[in-house]
Amino acid sequence: MKVLLADKLDVQVIQDLTTGGFQVIQTKGLAPGNLPSYAVLCEILIVRSTLVKKEILADFPQLKLIIRAGAGIDTIDVVAAAARGIQVSNCPGKNADAVAEMALALMLAVDRNLVEATMSLRGGRWIKGSLGQGRGFKDRTLGIAGFGAVGKALARKARGLEMRIAVWSHHPLSQVELEVEMVCVNSIQDLAQVSDVVSIHVASIPETRNLFGKDFFSMLKPGAIFINTARGEVVDQVALLEAIQTRGLRVGLDVFAGEPKVAEAIFSDGALAAKVVCSPHLGASTDQAAEAVAQEVIRIATVFRDTGIAPNAFSP
Ligand code: MLT
Repeated sequence: MKVLLADKLDVQVIQDLTTGGFQVIQTKGLAPGNLPSYAVLCEILIVRSTLVKKEILADFPQLKLIIRAGAGIDTIDVVAAAARGIQVSNCPGKNADAVAEMALALMLAVDRNLVEATMSLRGGRWIKGSLGQGRGFKDRTLGIAGFGAVGKALARKARGLEMRIAVWSHHPLSQVELEVEMVCVNSIQDLAQVSDVVSIHVASIPETRNLFGKDFFSMLKPGAIFINTARGEVVDQVALLEAIQTRGLRVGLDVFAGEPKVAEAIFSDGALAAKVVCSPHLGASTDQAAEAVAQEVIRIATVFRDTGIAPNAFSP
């Protein structure tokens, strides 16, 4: 079975798939009309950041399965794929610890002014006064919006900081999922009111687009911390910037609306980046997550080849 890998993944993916009898070719992204002739024969396409739009599918007449080497499938036109009978699978939970670690890193960096402290020292300035005003996390409330694999991983890790946990989720949560001592709230506004830190872990789907907007930000405590490692599109970026400027909201972002879908590019959202602690969507980028995602990609491709059924297949 022929496979096109359009992004750089853990080396194990090419090695194991080849050993397992797949023919694998790797490209850097997918340029419409400019794909190797081999694409015509591919039955499986594997992508990480690369967008899979409707137009590109025309270049893959044999395609049966798209594997997203990550959790979100917002980079793939699942409706166009389904219309062509192409299955779409993801790797849920495999990078959850890495993303939760990034959320924690951003929380700590925001509270302890680590970016300004580094920049000022590099600039030859010792500023112990104004930069030494972290609030600390013990006994503070962490509000987790979205309680899938990443939200749950963050809750586990935040326990180590002795934080209280409040949770909001689209889906009803069982007591087993919530565990002892977690508070479940009914709305994101309620979550904003009870939390000292809010961290976002919802999927980017039409229902969550700009979900965190003016109403939500107006309910946050003054000087609260807001962390987004999910997707930029779930936050109203204008309302976010306003909340930073007018309400002293402290912010850590790993994701931005309309961010580049390639490894290196010009970044155009400098106004927001200037006001926050931020990183270019690196949450899932650890060796551990890359290995776990690679194993899942290999499993999905192998099960699909052997049974015709794609694990984790998504139906729009
Ligand atoms: C995800 O959807 O799991 C992450 O965005 C993956 C990534 O950064 O590639």
